[in-house]
Amino acid sequence: ERINQIIQRVDASTPLDQWPRSLFEVSSKTRRKDIILNSEYIPGAAIAAGLKNGPTSLLNQLEQSGLRGCGGAGFSTASKWRFCAAADAEKRFVVCNADEGEPGTFKDRYLLQAHTDRLIEGMTLCAAVIGSSTGFIYLRGEYRYLLQPLNEILEQRRKAGLLGQSILGQANFNFDIKIHLGAGAYICGEESALIESLEGKRGIPRSRPPFPVTQGYCGFPTVVNNVETFCNAAMIAQRGPEWFRQVGTPASPGTKLLSISGDCERPGIYEFPFGTSIRDILHACGAQQTLAVQIGGAAGRMIPATEFNRTIAFEDISTGGSFMIFNQNRELLRAIENFTHFFRHESCGFCTPCRVGSSLLAKQLSKVMVGHATAKDLDEMSILGSLMQKTSHCGLGQTAANPILDGLGKFPSLFQSRLRATSFEPAFDLDASLE
Ligand code: NAI
Ligand code: SF4
Repeated sequence: ERINQIIQRVDASTPLDQWPRSLFEVSSKTRRKDIILNSEYIPGAAIAAGLKNGPTSLLNQLEQSGLRGCGGAGFSTASKWRFCAAADAEKRFVVCNADEGEPGTFKDRYLLQAHTDRLIEGMTLCAAVIGSSTGFIYLRGEYRYLLQPLNEILEQRRKAGLLGQSILGQANFNFDIKIHLGAGAYICGEESALIESLEGKRGIPRSRPPFPVTQGYCGFPTVVNNVETFCNAAMIAQRGPEWFRQVGTPASPGTKLLSISGDCERPGIYEFPFGTSIRDILHACGAQQTLAVQIGGAAGRMIPATEFNRTIAFEDISTGGSFMIFNQNRELLRAIENFTHFFRHESCGFCTPCRVGSSLLAKQLSKVMVGHATAKDLDEMSILGSLMQKTSHCGLGQTAANPILDGLGKFPSLFQSRLRATSFEPAFDLDASLE
């Protein structure tokens, strides 16, 4: 019942053009009014509130709210904005990471479509805090169909004095947003590769530090935040930090949007307070006989039924928003194989551990699938996986082995049941003859 009070659901089977554009339409279907998906919103309200109190107060509010980055890593949003504002430079930039490429994640797509004003206001408030006049929305190539509606909303806001020159009549506050379309590379969701791509170069991750807050777009301090983070920031400016902290846990305040897919009766986009257990989420979306849940996308963690009491929170299981459900009729090893092939395909090829490692892992897993692998192959996969975790240049390579490592650790029988019955036995046993 508690879950029923807090969920907001948009059915994934609803055609996109029928998804509600107005927050009021969404509200009419919901039972609680104070979460991101269904709260009422008047364009300009967040900027007006933020500008009235001033950038310092806004930053303090963000700090008190405890808002953490919703792309998955959970870095403090207030710290990020503060570091950027403090960096010594003549220009600063605001970038919205809308390159939602993680398999099983589709909640930003909905926010971009139905909560565009809120997103733009979050970016505008960030500009006010850090002192920026230019922002970018880096839009996933596959979301090309959102380009026109997004541009239309940007234009409407310029006409309404909510974007462009002298925002809300403030002579010294000019900020505008351009949309940059990605070309389909998963790695461009990594913030430094995204910045490279934005600069017109091939999307190869940079070494960090320096982080974008000091050296980002064209070498200038840049805030890169996820779509959901900017939406939350706008709501905090409007409603205050206490409102935001009403739900969630002390270390992970607020709510998390989840894209729920797979074996359940009601897949879709849900909003849960941080700290909600996997069991409660499965119950809310009508999942039964669940074998495992993959949380955080292909790079995330595979959670077995014995761990369903664990919670969605940065201090327990963090996720950018992907929640994939597998029931007992699924062949989990096929899902693991799928993720492994995904990483081999998406590795940018810059560093050896990831480029070669992802390929070797995929080959060894194929060997397991066809029943040719031995226990030694499983050991090698384990060693290779941990090598990739430790030595890869960026997050993609560092997490590409997660599906296999989790599978080997939590579902060993999946692999062992497919091993070759006997490993190679020499015709002449040297050890026995020495005895
Ligand atoms: P990270 O922990 O290195 O950084 C997170 C953010 O904090 C970045 O913006 C970074 O610039 C900033 N940051 C970290 N330390 C800093 C410092 N000392 N000073 C200033 N800024 C600092 O995580 P990363 O590699 O950027 O992202 C990994 C996350 O992305 C994972 O948790 C994964 O779940 C998520 N992810 C999300 C996807 C999606 O589609 N939403 C796709 C793939 C991964
Ligand atoms: Fe590219 Fe993979 Fe190396 Fe990242 S870890 S830089 S994706 S090759």
